[in-house]
Amino acid sequence: MLDKVKELIGDVQTFQATTKEEVEAFRIKYLGSKGLLKGLFAEFRNVDDELKKDFGQALNNLRNAAEGKVAELKEALENTVEEKGVYGDLTRPSEPIELGSRHPISIVKNRIIEVFNRIGFTVSEGPEIEDDWHNFTALNLPEYHPARDMQDTFFIEKNPDTLLRTHTSSVQVRYMENNEPPIRTISPGRVFRNEDISARAHCIFHQVEGLYIDTDVSFADLKQVLLYFTKEMFGKSKIRLRPSYFPFTEPSAEVDIYWGLETETDYRITKGTGWLEIMGCGMVDPNVLKNCNIDPTKYSGYAFGMGIERIAMLLYQIPDIRMFYENDVRFLEQFKSVI
Ligand code: DAH
Repeated sequence: MLDKVKELIGDVQTFQATTKEEVEAFRIKYLGSKGLLKGLFAEFRNVDDELKKDFGQALNNLRNAAEGKVAELKEALENTVEEKGVYGDLTRPSEPIELGSRHPISIVKNRIIEVFNRIGFTVSEGPEIEDDWHNFTALNLPEYHPARDMQDTFFIEKNPDTLLRTHTSSVQVRYMENNEPPIRTISPGRVFRNEDISARAHCIFHQVEGLYIDTDVSFADLKQVLLYFTKEMFGKSKIRLRPSYFPFTEPSAEVDIYWGLETETDYRITKGTGWLEIMGCGMVDPNVLKNCNIDPTKYSGYAFGMGIERIAMLLYQIPDIRMFYENDVRFLEQFKSVI
C-alpha cells in the first residue's frame, strides 16, 4: 500500500502537460471528489496501526505534490498562452507603421485657404448639384446667352434645369444671397464639365473662387490681393493682367505670372514666353450684385477663380492631370513629406 502511494508520488512529480485540459484531467484524477486521494484516504482506516503514521505522511506528501503540480502547470500554461496566443512574441522587432499622405489636391487647397485666411477671407461651400439660376442666370448668363457654351455642361434634368456645377462661381451667388457686405470669402470645390479627358483637361476638377464685396472696392485692390497671393503661393512677384471676358465681371482679366525661363521645363510650360496663365478675375458685374439683392450703387467688389489642379501641376511639376485621379500609390506616396 505504502509502495503504491510512493509510486504515485513519483508519477505526479514527473507528470507534464501542454494544455489546460490535460492539467484539469490530472487534477480530477488525483484531487477530484472521486479522485485517487479520496479513495486512499478512505482506506486509511484499514491500515495496520503501526503503519498508520508512515501511510498518513505519504498520503499528505502525495496530496501536496499533486496540488503543487497543478498550480505549477497552470501558471506555466497561463504565461505561454498569453505570450504566444494573444501578443505573439513580445521580443520581436515592431512592424513599421505605414503612414498615408494627403492628396496633392488637398495640400494645395489647404495652402490656398491658409494664404487667404491670413487676409481675412472665410471659407464657404455650395452644392455640386446646382440649378440654372446659381450656375448661370444670376451670374449674368441668361437663357440663350452665347457664353453658356464656354462651359460644356452635364445636365441632370431639363426644365427646370438641374446640372452639375461647371464652376465654383455658383457659390458666389449663394453667398451673396445669404450674407450682407462686407463679404470676403473663398469657395473651394469640385466642378464638372462635359469635356474629353486628356493630359491637360478632365471632366471633374477643382476650383477656388474668391469674392470681395464692400464699399469703394477698386481694381487696384484686386491687383494687390492677386500679387500677395502669387508671392505667397509661388514665391514669384511679377504678374500681369490681360483684358478678357467673363459674363459675371466687368472689366474682366486673366492673370499671368512671370514664371521665368530658367529650365527646359519653364520653356515648355510657358511656351517660351516665361508667362503662365493662372486664373480669371474681374470686378463683379453690377447685374450680378442686383441679382443677389446687393445695391450696386452702394457696393462694389471683385471676384476671381482658379483651377486647383493647374496650380498643383505647376508647384509639383506634374505633367498629366489624370495622375490626380488614378490613385497610384507610387504617385501619392511622393507627397508624404508635405502637410
Ligand atoms: N468661373 C470661371 C471659370 O470657371 C473662373 C472665373 C473667372 C471666376 C473670373 C471668377 C472670375 O470669379 O471673376 O472659368
